[in-house]
Amino acid sequence: MSKPATYTPLCPIDAIAPGQSKQFSMNGIALFVIRQGDTFYAYENHCPHLGIELQWQPDRFLDADGEFIQCSTHGALFLIEDGECVSGPCRGQALRSLPTRVRDGQLLAQLPSPKTLA
Ligand code: FES
Repeated sequence: MSKPATYTPLCPIDAIAPGQSKQFSMNGIALFVIRQGDTFYAYENHCPHLGIELQWQPDRFLDADGEFIQCSTHGALFLIEDGECVSGPCRGQALRSLPTRVRDGQLLAQLPSPKTLA
């Protein structure tokens, strides 16, 4: 029988406004969260092109229109909903998605175990 998934608390859900993003470092893992309405999308902060972090500035991951996640280094564009790269040098690859849930007003994410990190 597999172990139940463990979710790690990140922050109160109100710490991320709709249409905004926020970065975290938890247990040595860099990740970020995008909020759209009441839906949260979490990804490892690791561009599939060169394996570096994506943000433009602290907590800034979206393009100017807030339509895509955009890597600040070479401008790759990723779908907010599933992390697929749709433009740029890593087109066809994807960000690694992390499951999220909300409990008692807190946002939680399921972090990868260190041995499964890219
Ligand atoms: S490092 Fe992200 S697009 Fe090149």
